[in-house]
Parts: sequence; C-alpha cells; structure tokens
Amino acid sequence: MIEKLKTLSTEALAKVAASTDTESLRAVELEFLGRKGRLTEILRGLKDLSGEEKGQVGKLSNEVKIEIEAAIAAKFGELEHAKFAKLAETEWIDPTQPGEKAERGTLHPLTQFIREAEKVFEKMGFAVATGPQIEDDFHTFTALNIPADHPARDAQDTLFIENSDGKLLRPQTSSVQIRWMQEHKPPFRIIAPGRVFRKDDVDASHSPMFHQLEGLVVDRDISLANMKAVMEEAVRQLINPDAKFRFRTSYFPFVEPGLEMDMSCTICSGRGCPACKKTGWIEIVGCGLVHPNVLKNVGVDATQWSGFAFGFGLDRMVMLRHEIKDLRLVFENDLRFLEQF
Ligand code: PHE
Repeated sequence: MIEKLKTLSTEALAKVAASTDTESLRAVELEFLGRKGRLTEILRGLKDLSGEEKGQVGKLSNEVKIEIEAAIAAKFGELEHAKFAKLAETEWIDPTQPGEKAERGTLHPLTQFIREAEKVFEKMGFAVATGPQIEDDFHTFTALNIPADHPARDAQDTLFIENSDGKLLRPQTSSVQIRWMQEHKPPFRIIAPGRVFRKDDVDASHSPMFHQLEGLVVDRDISLANMKAVMEEAVRQLINPDAKFRFRTSYFPFVEPGLEMDMSCTICSGRGCPACKKTGWIEIVGCGLVHPNVLKNVGVDATQWSGFAFGFGLDRMVMLRHEIKDLRLVFENDLRFLEQF
C-alpha cells in the first residue's frame, strides 16, 4: 500500500509538472483528488485496514494529498501568470500613438451664408419664417397680386405638379409673406430664406433650383427710406462693408413701386469685368413697397399699415462673396470645392 501511494504521488507530480494549460491541470486534479479520484479511493479504503497499517497509510496519504494539492496550486499560479504575461504581448496598446482622425465636415457655403444672414437680420428685429416648397396657387400667385395672365404663371417658368389641383414648386419665397401675414397680426418683420424652383436650363448662372431670402416689414408709416437703410446695412455686413448701391425701377406685381437694387461689383470694385458684364454693377435683389392689394388679400388694413418687401438671390450673393465663377459648383457637392470653406 505504501509503495502504491509512492508511485501514485510520483505519477501525479509528474502529470502536474507536464500540464501546459489550466484545463489539463484541472483534469489531473480530477484524476487524483476528485470524488472518484485515485487518491480519494485509497483514503476511502482506509477504514478497511488494520490498526497499524491504517495509521501509516493514513498519514502518508495525507502527506501525498497535501503535496499534490500544493503542486497543483503552484502550477496553476504559474500557468495563469504566463497567460497574463502573454496577454501583455498580444493585446498591448500604445497610448502615445496618434489617434485615427475622424473626418470633420464643414457647413456648405450657402448654409453658412444663410446662418449669418439670419443673425444680421435678427439683430435688426426680424424673425425667421419658413413655408412649404410645394405651394398652392393662392399663396404663390393670387394673394401676391399676380394676375392670371402674368408670365410668372406660365408653365414655361413654373414647375407645376401633375394631378395635384394646381400645386407647384414655389418659384419665389414671396409666398411665405402671405402665410406669415395670414397667421399673425401686424406689425410684421420677417425674413424667409429657402429653396425656389423654376424651369431653367443649367448653365454658369442658372439652375432650376436656387435660393432666395425674402424679407417683409409691415408697420406704421413705412417708406422706401426704411427699406433702403435695412437692405444696404444687411449687404454691407454680409458681403462688403464698402459696397455702393443703386436702385432701378422694376416691376413685381406684389410691390408698388417696384425696384431692383444693384451693388458695386466686388470682383472688379466697380471698374467693370466679365462677372458684372463690364457695367461695374451686379443685380442682387428685387424689392419695393408692399402693394395695397396684397395687404387687402390677407386682411390687413392698407390705410393703417404699409410695408416693404425684398427678395435676395442668395446663390448670387454667395458667388459674389467668395468670387465663385460658376453656379454649378455651388450645387455639385464636390468635396474639392466644399473643403475650401
Ligand atoms: N420674388 C421676387 C423674385 O423672385 C423678388 C421680390 C421679392 C421682389 C419681394 C419684390 C419684393 O424675383
């Protein structure tokens, strides 16, 4: 029995030493110390031995058990340590390495311009209004005093939507004036930046989709002088503090008188270049005093209230500001272009 215990001990210790991972070590533990393990069997058989033998074998069995347990614990520690040492080799990171850069976008130059314009006008007391891009006849034409035979209603200019009861893509932001006046009580002071649509071919200065910024002020005793002051101040702040301006008479059904404002060409400082067709002036905005019929159409008493309205061409202003020669660049979303802003 003593001999048997000694071989068992040697065998167990050799198997422990030969274990290369914790799983095989667990198997060895089970083989010798488990519930049906080989050493456990011997210990369990002790009770059948005679007094003296029982003492000797019992003592040795316990020593062997302690020895094997200690060897297993030591080996386990060793294996675990090795595992973590390897972990440091395979899963290391270098916190001093430069990180992967996340690409950062920028706002589109047009969006930048609109946001700045909103700030400039907000400082002058204007609210920012929006309206739908798909409009109806009333808000686009009728309420704006645009008679049935006006060329703006011509399908040559306007993009109508089929089977929609005369709905269309708004050809100008002036429809937002009407919506605002219907929903609010005067005085009014709003701007409405947004997309507009016309049946245009695409070239360096035309696109079927472009952007306008509408402005509307209705208050007591509003005159052209108020209009001139507001518009000139806005353009000076947004494009060029030294800009010069001139007004020419024009015609828009919803204003009377109707005017167009030109600013001195930023590219040639008014000397004359291809961008301004050698005139030194660039047309940027239609404007005028709100036609009394328009006020009447939205239930505002034209004997008490008067106002002015304007419609900036935003794309053109952005082109002027950045000296962009081709409108198509603004809409093509070519990163090489956009990353410059
Ligand atoms: N809506 C006009 C256009 O599209 C511009 C404009 C707006 C003119 C407001 C006068 C007053 O050309």
